Amino acid sequence: MIFFAQLRTTVVLFLFISSAPIWANPTEDRQQIRAVYQQLFPQLSLEDYAEGVYAIDPDAKDSWLAIEEFPPYELALEQGETLYKAPFENGSRYADCFANKGVAIAQDYPYWDEQKQQITTLASAINNCRQRNQLPALAYGKGEISYLLAYLAYTSRGQRINTQIPDNSPAALNAYEQGKAYFYQRRGQLNFSCASCHLDNAGKFIRSEILSPALGHTTHWPAYRLNTGEMGTLHRRFMVCNKLIRADVDPAQSTALKQLEYFLSFLDNGLPLNGPSTRK
Ligand code: HEC
Repeated sequence: MIFFAQLRTTVVLFLFISSAPIWANPTEDRQQIRAVYQQLFPQLSLEDYAEGVYAIDPDAKDSWLAIEEFPPYELALEQGETLYKAPFENGSRYADCFANKGVAIAQDYPYWDEQKQQITTLASAINNCRQRNQLPALAYGKGEISYLLAYLAYTSRGQRINTQIPDNSPAALNAYEQGKAYFYQRRGQLNFSCASCHLDNAGKFIRSEILSPALGHTTHWPAYRLNTGEMGTLHRRFMVCNKLIRADVDPAQSTALKQLEYFLSFLDNGLPLNGPSTRK
């Protein structure tokens, strides 16, 4: 009995040590997490992570490159451009809501809005724009918003992710910390965290799929999923993963998922954007 009790303590301690965030500030977090990936995948350069699971799965990469010759997101991209450029009933356009008319700006999202004391993601900025122009908000998971995001992502290809946590803003730091906590929090009937799959077990198989590293998770959205035949947003993917472990699903663009995106995007700073993309 005593042996078992000790064993359990050891196991619990081990789990705690292996996936709990024990370090200090965001920049140090990033160094630590990237160092873990570098040990897991010494063959990869930082840039390689922008390719997601394809960076670590040569067979899948070959078929992905073949698919990219006639990308299945092409139609969504065209629809997105048309939607983006069409004037609203009041004569203004999406372009009027964004810096540089919305061209090559995706790398600056998500950002901390000090005035509103909240995170603005690119998807939420699209709906803010619509609401300022008396239009109903779009649903956040798929459909029209994913087409618009595809167009904005396309004009931002090659831009490097530039997510800032302003020095003088404890609220921004707190939002980041909440996002980090969400990433490491075990949840659902399966009691997994994002980190269990995408950090501790990155590169291993789960059923027929190789688990991608979390580093690079924000580079390529929206994605056309070959499994569903639809474009989906980053938050939709978060929701799919939460369903996978039978957890309560936070809705797209909820505060929790925005914080999660803020954390992941900070981790990805400096990586080139390459959305829209195709994924299994
Ligand atoms: C049970 C394991 C598991 C857990 C837990 C899990 N995921 Fe996933 N996730 C997957 C699988 C499988 C895929 C598809 C293969 C891949 O790209 O990793 C995936 C894909 C993704 C992708 C898309 C990757 C890409 O390149 O397009 C993102 C982003 C993602 N997960 C984020 C998360 C986040 C954030 C959490 C925590 C809320 C989470 N996942 C929890 C298994 C998991």
